[in-house]
Amino acid sequence: MSVAATAADVASRRTFAIISHPDAGKTTLTEKLLLYGGAIHLAGSVKARRAERHATSDWMELEKQRGISVTSSVLQFEWAGRHINLLDTPGHQDFGEDTYRTLIAADSAIMLLDNRKGVEERTRQLFDVCRRRRIPIVTLVNKCDRAGADPLELIGDVERDLGLTCCPMTWPVHRQSQFVGVYDLTAGVIELFDRDTGHGARRAEVERLTLDAPATTELLGAETVERLRQEIELLGTAGVPFDRDAFLAGDQSPVFFGSALTNFGIEPFFRTFLDMAPPPGPRDSSAGPVDPLDPGFAGFVFKIQANMDPKHRDRLAFVRIVSGHFEAGMSVTHVRSGKTLRLSAPQQMMARERQAVEEASPGDVIGVHDRGTLRIGDTLTDGRTLEFSGIPRFAPEHFARIHVRDPLRRKHLDTGLRQLSDEGAAQVFYTETVAGPTPIVGAVGLLQFDVMVFRLEHEYGVPCKLDRMSYQHARWVLGPEDEIERVGRAHGRLLVYDARNNPLILFEDAWSMRAALTHEGMLTYLESAP
Ligand code: G4P
Repeated sequence: MSVAATAADVASRRTFAIISHPDAGKTTLTEKLLLYGGAIHLAGSVKARRAERHATSDWMELEKQRGISVTSSVLQFEWAGRHINLLDTPGHQDFGEDTYRTLIAADSAIMLLDNRKGVEERTRQLFDVCRRRRIPIVTLVNKCDRAGADPLELIGDVERDLGLTCCPMTWPVHRQSQFVGVYDLTAGVIELFDRDTGHGARRAEVERLTLDAPATTELLGAETVERLRQEIELLGTAGVPFDRDAFLAGDQSPVFFGSALTNFGIEPFFRTFLDMAPPPGPRDSSAGPVDPLDPGFAGFVFKIQANMDPKHRDRLAFVRIVSGHFEAGMSVTHVRSGKTLRLSAPQQMMARERQAVEEASPGDVIGVHDRGTLRIGDTLTDGRTLEFSGIPRFAPEHFARIHVRDPLRRKHLDTGLRQLSDEGAAQVFYTETVAGPTPIVGAVGLLQFDVMVFRLEHEYGVPCKLDRMSYQHARWVLGPEDEIERVGRAHGRLLVYDARNNPLILFEDAWSMRAALTHEGMLTYLESAP
């Protein structure tokens, strides 16, 4: 029997992701939030972390070797009475697909910007996904410990670039071009930081002062105080006030300034962020919106990961709970198959360490063991036949034929490819040839290929080789079979089938694809799987 979550449980949840361009400081910020949340006691300075070549949330072998973050995990911790689910998204640009899916599970996002670079390409792409879902976004301008763009200009650029209204909540305070604190525009106080944070390994102590206090002039100097006064005045006349409804609708973004490396401004930022960010709300489903306080359990799978721990050799499905109170051992309906699944031994993740969860609430993400039943996008309920939609599958832009060195390992290859495909780490297609179906793998980003080859060898014991193919675009097609055959087998095209036997046509270039789209009107072309 599944029961409702309590209003207090729902109200205390915050489920969010950090969106940024690589190098803006996401790993550093994540580490600092964990430090403040007490999940780690001493944040390894970035130097130490780099020396190890991996951060707390990176755990795959390849990540360690390359020092990049290619998988996303969920970090859970408590802070000031709030239960936080931080959805960690991969930083590398080739992993867009995984990141997009993660954003589907988030209720809000922190947009992290480098104070010299502002909005960069990847920030823009991720922002677009948030905007489509109208996720509220809070902006943090990072690296303020070093000289950057003028804050007013930076805000202007963000507004123009993203078509978003920005509302400064704090303002950087510099003394002799050193970043010494932030002015909290709502409270009207300056928060001055204590410089000795052991290079950011400990939380930053703050001293709070008003602008008019004689101690402020003594500490900052008359010139700094005067300049700050003028800037605040300017913001008062030129800026827009914070509007909660506009923020919740994703139209206005509150802006904060800080430095993740030195911790300056991070604690006040995070405290305010947690107050502003919405708790889990209703989610659209095929049977109408599902409210977090609905009595029955409902959730969806947004990520699957096999072999997270080489010692365990298992597969975990990450489920975002939408409604109902979850208890370990509970039985749920797997809507796509109609089967009943017992969710025994669910887990929460903290990098490599897993903790058993006894209960969970809407907004929480749990990892459940899966023997191959679950797929990305699947809905689990207390028996209701509703489905959550909106988990996109993207048309790949890179293709390769996959060759196994040892033909006797072909079965292992098939298992590996099936699992990687369920995880969303690879898209697998087949052509009908006399030699039987030859697997072709597709990827949204090139780095995905390296990951596939590495994982097939290390996790499935199948050393293999990829032969890149010249196709660049793919469209799923609907229409009469003979038409699909005719169009798909024309010059510069290749007809293939996905794992669910849906036909797709691969095109060598945009020109050839446009030609089909304009002249072969008997077919319907889809950018994502039907
Ligand atoms: P990412 O996950 O978004 O890719 O960024 P990450 O945290 O790895 O940070 C990228 C670089 O930016 C690192 O420098 C990091 O030290 C630096 N950084 C992060 N936050 C701040 C900040 O508040 N101020 C300053 N000045 N730098 C910051 P790196 O040179 O790549 O590494 P390292 O040599 O410092 O170890």
